Amino acid sequence: MSLELSKKAKAVKPSSTLAITAKAKKMKAEGIDVVGFGAGEPDFNTPENICLAAKEAIDKGFTKYTPASGTVELRQAISRKFKEFNNLDYDINQIVVSNGGKHSLTNIFEAILNPGDEVIIPSPFWLSYPEMVKLCDGVPVFVNCTAEENYKISAKKLDEAITEKTKALVLNSPNNPTGMIYTRKELEEIAEVVVRRDIYVVSDEMYENLVYGDEEIVSIASLNDEIYKRTITCSGVSKSYSMTGWRIGYVGAPLEIAKLMGSIQSHQASNPNSIAQVAATEALNGPQDKIEVMRQEFDKRRIYMYKRISEMPYVSAINPQGAFYVFIDFSKTFEKTYKGEKIGDISNVARILIDDFKTAVIPCADFGAPQNIRLSYAISMEDIEKGLDRIGEFLKELN
Ligand SMILES: Cc1ncc(COP(=O)(O)O)c(C=O)c1O
Repeated sequence: MSLELSKKAKAVKPSSTLAITAKAKKMKAEGIDVVGFGAGEPDFNTPENICLAAKEAIDKGFTKYTPASGTVELRQAISRKFKEFNNLDYDINQIVVSNGGKHSLTNIFEAILNPGDEVIIPSPFWLSYPEMVKLCDGVPVFVNCTAEENYKISAKKLDEAITEKTKALVLNSPNNPTGMIYTRKELEEIAEVVVRRDIYVVSDEMYENLVYGDEEIVSIASLNDEIYKRTITCSGVSKSYSMTGWRIGYVGAPLEIAKLMGSIQSHQASNPNSIAQVAATEALNGPQDKIEVMRQEFDKRRIYMYKRISEMPYVSAINPQGAFYVFIDFSKTFEKTYKGEKIGDISNVARILIDDFKTAVIPCADFGAPQNIRLSYAISMEDIEKGLDRIGEFLKELN
């Protein structure tokens, strides 16, 4: 047939993280003892009180359409959480609940972008942002941020990257893949540029509950009225409450943007799953102790992993402050040889690790970081120990 399918759809890169995780799963199913460092989701069950609320919702017949932007109860719970946790005032009319954070983010770009609008994405970045922007007719503009800068965009670099076509900056803190968190001071400086140059900020705060040590978590929109008017704050229950499969993400936005998002969503998806909305309401309103237990477990693993990696030859990492990833620079291995052949690049490192050492890692070329690998610590301590031993063995074999 000569009918051409959508150019936009054909330009989308399939998610490489899902591909590697799938390969590791397949090997496991074949009985191979694989350690999978690819996980992008907590390895804990959804807390029981949340599951119970969902079961009750089914029994009570809460199985019909809800308002497109989400139930009043859930939006009230989110509004309270924004106030208490983020120091942000979002009325329920400014809140839109969607089918997971990815859907929230796509809705945001659909609501704010016109064809050709540029969106600044600090690099390294979570690999879905550029694809989402392209799907919404925008143009991703990458600003490279180095290890010396803790992989964060400075106000100066942002200012230099803004053009007449810039519509928004994507800010992700805590960050996937780097684990970095923006300080209040850094956010104040960025906010000054955003307001002066009159662009929007899409602030992805999906990992806001997973913060370690003394780090303070600050929502950029809370800094002052001017930045609040230009910020769309995105979060969700996936990572914080171990609810990745329930698919609930949400946004607090200026009223005009929230209205547009609600109307887009009413045609594209009607509403997020009614039962999952009840579960998310319980997650936000119910006891928070389980969340703290998960956070502390992640913290133990983070400390262990960072220490082990710091002791390894040829690789370097910065101490992660949030989320559940360690971001490791492997570039010093590229000139080395393994079994008589030059390593060359990051995809080869990942290939050798999975093929010869049964260890699945995420090479970060699609995250804008062709020198790095991302290891997730959302896996058991036992697997972490075993996987790091294997990476250590690989490094020992390099010449
Ligand atoms: C930075 C970041 N934002 C958003 C999301 C989307 O989360 P969800 O599973 O709710 O779609 C993810 C998931 O991997 C993420 O890493």
